[in-house]
Amino acid sequence: MSNNRIHAVVSDIVNGIRQVLVRHGVTFDEYRAGVMYAVKTGEAGEIPLMLDVFLNSTVSDIENAAYGGTEGTIEGPYYLPNAPIIPNGGEILTYDDDRNVPMVVRGTVKDLEGQPIAGATVDIWHSTPDGYYGGIHNDIPANYYRGKVLTDSEGRYFVRSTVPVPYKIPDQGPTGALLEMMGGHSWRPAHVHFKVRADGYHTLTTQSYFEQGDYVEDDCCNGVRPVQVKPDVRENGEKVIENDFQLAPDVIAS
Ligand code: DHB
Ligand code: FE
Repeated sequence: MSNNRIHAVVSDIVNGIRQVLVRHGVTFDEYRAGVMYAVKTGEAGEIPLMLDVFLNSTVSDIENAAYGGTEGTIEGPYYLPNAPIIPNGGEILTYDDDRNVPMVVRGTVKDLEGQPIAGATVDIWHSTPDGYYGGIHNDIPANYYRGKVLTDSEGRYFVRSTVPVPYKIPDQGPTGALLEMMGGHSWRPAHVHFKVRADGYHTLTTQSYFEQGDYVEDDCCNGVRPVQVKPDVRENGEKVIENDFQLAPDVIAS
């Protein structure tokens, strides 16, 4: 980011905040309370969480408009770059659990002309049946509930896993407290995360959600876009999440 761009963006942020302070007649005590709130958020290690909750989806929308291809959405804080490679047709590691609903995650990766992209990496991660992430929560190993599958010569990928559930972002800290003070809640609808990469293409970060699922219409992170909400398809007792991803070239469309 050039110094000019930093100047342009940061001055506009400061001017925007000044206008809000004036519009609401914010007092010095309120301003100080806000500063202390920012300090607490930092101390709790929740600066990324707080900024992502309010702003990441807007940046995703900007990238969607700039690049084209399948609509991206928020990455969330639990992406880990070193997920295991799962053979095409194989299974993501999951625990045996009475609550497991088997899930097939499949589809294709193509370019904007509809030509298959072979050897694209589809990196998938999602929660356990009780809403936790491998490598992040409760000592679940980092190679569980996440994996990378490479597309075949026709751009196809296919893995098995288990259905995730709605996820409550940490609500003990300042971010959850703020959402609740604002009359909201800290739930995200059940979702499967994807990061799709291929040489020469803009990396797509997106999610799939389940039609009729709790919080799909009311995501605390504003991360749901209608095309990402998947119909309830079941085959032989397995829930099917199908995505035909289209990757845009790695240049901003003019
Ligand atoms: C958060 C967690 C997620 O799993 C996600 O997809 C997005 C946000 C969070 O804790 O903020
Ligand atoms: Fe998530």
